[in-house]
Amino acid sequence: MAVQKLWWKHGVVYQIYPRSFKDSNADGIGDLEGIISKLDYLQELGIDAIWLSPIYPSPDADFGYDVADYRDIDPKYGDLESFQRFQSEAHKRNIKVIMDLVLNHSSDQHKWFVEARQSKDNPYRDYYIWADGKNGKAPNNWGAIFGGSAWNWDEQAQQYYLHLFYEGQPDLNWRNPKLYQEMMDIFRFWCDRGVDGFRLDVFNLYYKDKDLRDNPRRFPPTPPFGRIYDWQDHLYDFDQPEMLPALEDIRKILDSYPERYAVGETYPEVADTVTSYAAPGRLHAAFNFAFLHNDWKAKQFLKTIQFWEAPENAEIQPTYVLGNHDVPRPATRYAKGKEDARMKVAAVMLLTLRGTPYIYYGDEIGQRDIPVRRRKDIQDPIGKRYFPLMKGRDGCRAPMQWDASDNAGFTSAEVKPWLPVHKDHTHRNVVAQTNDPDSLLNQYKTLIKLRKENSALYAGDLTLIDLNSSDILAYTRSSAEQTVFICLNFSNKTQMIHLPKEFTQATLLYSTHKKALTDPLENTYSLQANEAIILQQ
Ligand code: GLC
Repeated sequence: MAVQKLWWKHGVVYQIYPRSFKDSNADGIGDLEGIISKLDYLQELGIDAIWLSPIYPSPDADFGYDVADYRDIDPKYGDLESFQRFQSEAHKRNIKVIMDLVLNHSSDQHKWFVEARQSKDNPYRDYYIWADGKNGKAPNNWGAIFGGSAWNWDEQAQQYYLHLFYEGQPDLNWRNPKLYQEMMDIFRFWCDRGVDGFRLDVFNLYYKDKDLRDNPRRFPPTPPFGRIYDWQDHLYDFDQPEMLPALEDIRKILDSYPERYAVGETYPEVADTVTSYAAPGRLHAAFNFAFLHNDWKAKQFLKTIQFWEAPENAEIQPTYVLGNHDVPRPATRYAKGKEDARMKVAAVMLLTLRGTPYIYYGDEIGQRDIPVRRRKDIQDPIGKRYFPLMKGRDGCRAPMQWDASDNAGFTSAEVKPWLPVHKDHTHRNVVAQTNDPDSLLNQYKTLIKLRKENSALYAGDLTLIDLNSSDILAYTRSSAEQTVFICLNFSNKTQMIHLPKEFTQATLLYSTHKKALTDPLENTYSLQANEAIILQQ
C-alpha cells in the first residue's frame, strides 16, 4: 500500500536566515520581498518547506532571537501583508512555511518587559523571573549560555532578572498562567494566518526550578557554545518536568488545525530527554544536532544513526541537520580546500537517511564560512564579547552567493551588506553551479528528486549494514515497493566492497562519480575515494 505523504515527515526542509538570503530594497539586509523573488529557485531545488529564522520586530541584540512583538513583522523584513504574500506564493509552489518561535525569552524592549521593570505590582511583573540578591550577589549560581551570570541587576526594578542568554533577552515566566495563555495564543495567532509549522527555540529551557536552587558544579566543564562555558550541570534551569504538559497543550492547539507541525530545538546535553519531547502527543520532532559536532568519520555518524534507529526510538521522527546559523558550515568543517567531494557524500547521507533532512541556505552550493579576523568587524554579540577566544557566529551567516557580481547578487553592488560576502562567490555561486551538471547544487536537486520519487527513500525503514570498514557507512532503506542500498565512502581511498546478496544484480540509481554502470555488478563494487552510491535491486 502506498504511504500517505506527510510534508514534515517525508519532505525536505530548507532554513533561511532572512538577513542574509536576498535583499530587495538595497539596505544591505535581506527581506521578505527578496525571499519571494527566490521562491522559484527553491521550487526548482525541490524543497517542501521553508523554516524562517525569526522575522518579528527586534532590536537585534541576538539578530531576531530577541523578540519585541510576537504578532508582527519587523519593518526591515516587510510587514504582515508582505508576510501573507510570501506565504501564499510559497503555498502556490507547494512549499510550507515554518516560523521560528522564540518563547523562552523576549527582548528587553518588549512592552511586557518595559512594563514589568517599572514596579513590583505592575501587572506584567510576573511575566518574567525576578529575584532578590543573596548577600549582595546574584540570587543563585546559574550561568548564562552566552557567558557570565544568568542574572542582571535592574536599577529601575530594584531586583535581579533572569536571562539564560544575553541581558537583552529576559527569560519569560512560564509558571505564570497569564503568560502561559499569551504563549498559547501566539501559536493560534500564526496558525490562524496559515503558518504550517513552528521551530521552537530552546524550548527545553521554558521552565526553571520553582525555588531557583543552585546548579551543581560540573567537572570537567564542557563546551556547548564554544569555549566560554560550561561548568555546571543544568539540573534546575533546563528540562524541568513541567515542560511535558506544556508541550501537550501546544500539540492540542496545533492539532486543532489541519497538518500543523512543531520541531523543537534542544542541545545534545539532553540526547535522552529529546526522545520524551518528541513522543506522541507532544512535538512532531526534536532536532538532533549530533551531526553538527561530528568529525568526518563514518563511525561517528553511525553512532548517531544507531541512536535514532534503536527499537525504543522507533516511534520518533528523526531530523538530520548538517548546518545552521549557530555553527560553522559543513563545507568549512569537512571540505578540504576548494574540493566539494566530501560535501557530495554528506548530501547523499543527509538525503537518504530515515528522517527529515534540514538544509541550511547556501549549503547546497557548498558555501564556506567567511573569515572573522577583527573584533571591530564582528556583528554577533558572542564574538564581540569573547574575541579572539571565540569568533562568534558571523562566519556561517554571510549572504547567499547567487552570482559572480559584486555582492554576489545578494544586494546591489553599491551597498555594503550587513556581513561581507565570501570572496569565492566569483566562482562559487548559484548561477555557475546551475550551469555545471556535476555541481553540488545539481547533485542536491537530483537527490531531492530521487527522494521524492522513491518510497524507500522518503518513507522506508532503515537497516544498517556492516561492511567491515571503519571508513564506510552503509544501509538499506525499504518500503513495501522497493529496497535500495546506500553506501558512503568517507575516505580518500578506493574501497572494494562486498555487496549484500540481494544487490549483486542491482542497478545504479545514483553515484556521485558515475553516470551509469559500465560493467554488470557482481559480488563486489569498487567504491572510489569519496564516492557515494545508491543501488536499486
Ligand atoms: C537558539 C538559536 C540561537 C539563539 C539562541 C537564543 O540556540 O538557534 O541562534 O542565539 O537560541 O535565542
